[in-house]
Amino acid sequence: MAATDLRGRDFITLMEFDREEVETILDTAHDIKRKWIRGEPHRLLEDKTLFMLFYNRSLRTRNSFEAGMTQLGGHAHFLEPDAVYTPALPGEEKAYSTERISDVARVLAEMGHGIAIRIYGKHTGWRYGKGNLLIREFARWSRVPVINMEDDMYHPCQALADLMVMQEKLGDLKGKKFVMSWAYSGSVEKPLAVPQSAIIGASFFGMDITLAHPKGLELDPKVLEFTKKNVVKNGGSFQIVHDMDAAFKDAVAVYPKAWTSQPTDGKTPMDPEKAKAIFEANKHWITTKDKMELTNDAIYMHCLPADRGMEVTDEVMDGPNSVIVEEAANRLHAQKGLMALIL
Ligand code: CP
Repeated sequence: MAATDLRGRDFITLMEFDREEVETILDTAHDIKRKWIRGEPHRLLEDKTLFMLFYNRSLRTRNSFEAGMTQLGGHAHFLEPDAVYTPALPGEEKAYSTERISDVARVLAEMGHGIAIRIYGKHTGWRYGKGNLLIREFARWSRVPVINMEDDMYHPCQALADLMVMQEKLGDLKGKKFVMSWAYSGSVEKPLAVPQSAIIGASFFGMDITLAHPKGLELDPKVLEFTKKNVVKNGGSFQIVHDMDAAFKDAVAVYPKAWTSQPTDGKTPMDPEKAKAIFEANKHWITTKDKMELTNDAIYMHCLPADRGMEVTDEVMDGPNSVIVEEAANRLHAQKGLMALIL
């Protein structure tokens, strides 16, 4: 299949795409964004339907997909699991309240052109990888593309929007220092999907990636391994440090955000008490103006929602280097580009 022909592909993690394919999606997204700004028609998915199943709440993801489908000439249905017989993994169905994914996926696929799903956290019993398994079960049975709108491992649509904003603000990303840093939060219910997808995404573009976090908040070894190998393939570098100040030095893009490390065996649930203890010992991992001054005039990134006063100060969030609103807005353009190609 030619790199530019992405029709029919599922979009679950960027790890299943190569550099040329990721570039194709981003080029299409930038092109569609220019059309949107100029008010040029781009109804590339006329009369097509996307079914969106949300196990978790959302502001940006829901509205960017829904508005995006409308702007492309199609339509998106918002589905809440409880209102559609809560699709469950095989062996976990409860009579009268759940329906097998094999049935849900096959039926929806006959009525529309794509299925998008969000599931992480308490809906998986905080068992890492279970949300991803559910999405993969949908993909196994659906004959139309399945899109991951954030599971417990990956948030690939967010990664596309993050890459877009960096390309817009920094130009060619080759050799640019990108810092994905942990940040303090009062809540330990923070999935790994965003930081994992951010370093995966950056590893396609020759960036010098620094991952910073306190000890005990490691990312999934599979993601670290992929990132290490991908920077060898695509240029750039990857290092892990345990000091936020050291990480910020000379960075041109910083992305400080809370996450909770979890057992990756898929069986052991997150231990909130253990997570809480690590979080409370690291309250100083907050992005302040002083920390931003250590950087090389870096852009401040966040997927939102952010925990103001914990992850970051208002001064930085609302300061001149913050790109949070453009980053969120790029969710619309990134997903329009993606959907135009795969649907
Ligand atoms: N960044 C993001 O996915 O935002 P929502 O949770 O609002 O969709």
